Amino acid sequence: MKNLFITGLVGVGLLGTSLAALATDAHTRVIATTCLSCHGPDGKSKSAMPSLAGIDKAYFVAQMKAFKSGQRPASVMHRHAQGYTDQEFEKMGEYFAAMK
Ligand code: HEC
Repeated sequence: MKNLFITGLVGVGLLGTSLAALATDAHTRVIATTCLSCHGPDGKSKSAMPSLAGIDKAYFVAQMKAFKSGQRPASVMHRHAQGYTDQEFEKMGEYFAAMK
């Protein structure tokens, strides 16, 4: 638990103070941090990877479910969508949608 807390703090530090002000639970922030290593540190990708900042929540949740079920073909995302619940997708969606 202590380690999780520290990981959360490091994540918030990386994401910057503006996001730390968001009232998102630590669990969601920790998950989101793992996504941002590919999708851009502030959710804005500079590569071929799609950006997540400001994404439509309903679209996000639908894509994550489609990756998880294999309905949407993916190079890596079907793996990243495994292991998360629908509720976690909802929370992540809120988090990314709120990113500016
Ligand atoms: C290893 C790099 C990597 C990581 C880590 C990663 N993604 Fe992705 N993501 C991709 C790539 C590449 C695509 C394009 C689809 C594909 O080929 O898998 C993508 C596509 C997506 C899309 C679709 C965007 C759109 O515009 O349709 C969403 C949503 C998404 N990722 C969310 C996440 C979330 C949430 C996490 C963390 C749980 C995550 N990604 C972690 C590489 C990554």
